[in-house]
Amino acid sequence: MSTTKMTEAQTAGLNKVVDSFSVSTDRLKVIVDQFVEEMEKGLDHQGATIAMIPSFVSGRCTGDEKGSFMALDLGGTNLRVCHVTLLGGGEHTIRQQKYVVSEELKTGPMRHLCDFIADCVDSFLTENGTSSSQETIQLGYTFSFPVLQTSINRGVLKQWTKGFNCSGAVGKDVTILLQDSFRRKNINVNIAAIVNDTVGTLMAYAYKHPETAMGVIMGTGFNASYYEQMGNVNKWTGEKEQEMVINMECGAFDCERRVLPLTVYDNKMDRESINVHQQLYEKMVAGMYLGEITRNAILDLVDQQLLFNGHSSKELNAMWSFETAYMSTIEVDNTSDLCDTGHILESVLNVPATTLADRQMVKAICNAVGVRAARLASCHIAAVMRKTKKVGEQFTVAIDGSLFEFYPNFEENMAAAMSEVLGEQARSKVCFDLARDGSGLGAAIIAMMAAKH
Ligand code: GLC
Repeated sequence: MSTTKMTEAQTAGLNKVVDSFSVSTDRLKVIVDQFVEEMEKGLDHQGATIAMIPSFVSGRCTGDEKGSFMALDLGGTNLRVCHVTLLGGGEHTIRQQKYVVSEELKTGPMRHLCDFIADCVDSFLTENGTSSSQETIQLGYTFSFPVLQTSINRGVLKQWTKGFNCSGAVGKDVTILLQDSFRRKNINVNIAAIVNDTVGTLMAYAYKHPETAMGVIMGTGFNASYYEQMGNVNKWTGEKEQEMVINMECGAFDCERRVLPLTVYDNKMDRESINVHQQLYEKMVAGMYLGEITRNAILDLVDQQLLFNGHSSKELNAMWSFETAYMSTIEVDNTSDLCDTGHILESVLNVPATTLADRQMVKAICNAVGVRAARLASCHIAAVMRKTKKVGEQFTVAIDGSLFEFYPNFEENMAAAMSEVLGEQARSKVCFDLARDGSGLGAAIIAMMAAKH
């Protein structure tokens, strides 16, 4: 490897790319203002851009809930099947098993996916010795897609997100579809609740920390939930004198492309995704997409002959080949010759040869995409605080997802952006807490609350 410095042309080309990913304080403020407006529209009527879906989870948990429940978690990288025992006093035990959902299942007929889930539950029950019981097992089903709920265990899928695209599901009640697979396979399980992962995360964290105000997922996808007074929800025709968790489905924010600072690299990724022009906010923040945006920016510099001497590789040319996890590794690479970065580029992605300048440029692009994601990811939290008049008060946000947990400086960059928008004093009252794998526990708590009713 030569230790060449970046040429003037390389520096200029890189700066242009990096600048295109910067989000100014003023722009953050515009996004937050627009977000508050969109929240209001979503609470007012059906069919708004941000769906603001009432979850039928009302009341707060106390931590004293007890009992044994099953939970399913579909919508991240894996399917998880869990058996949760709530012990009271905010304590619980959990047994869980992960199952890989193949690309074929993600995009095939819904019936195949439901049968697969039912088979996983069956084998989990057999392996854990719980299948012989005569009693119907109550299950909380975390199904992390936009579901327009009509009750705690009924809801119609609005659209797929995150690379799922099964036929025969949109417009259908997804609980009935899965319950049907259980019935056909004689599995004695009742779906007591359907739960979004953000709602599960909020409830799980609230089991130990009842003051929790929001549940956020920053992983493969991006979304949030919070408590709202139902008197503020015009479209809600039920009891108004209560608070309920709202699944915001905020990844859909600004699909009109009014305020989000989209670059050519975002547009290319969006155009080639299976849900074009949808989930644009999610696509700028979530783990599923950041690597692809970065890959587009890298290839632009290759095409300008400013990176890798103008050479790419078959691997780097393949869509989705640049994983977001590589970005994390590259961002923490502090070796003098950036050898971890070199390893990813040369050994994993088969780029013929890289100079130190090449590696530095790739690192700078990863940083620009990662910082932008974190800055944008703070906007919806600031907006919820504004909407619920909590700016300046203690505000606990439970956050789950690989990006928040593993991406270098993600939390610090979110906090810095929030401080620019709300001021440092208000920011200092906000806690971003990691709520790892909360949605299984949360779904069990919600199943329990539903069973109690
Ligand atoms: C997508 C889904 C949403 C989910 C989020 C995080 O945005 O539409 O329901 O909460 O991903 O998994």
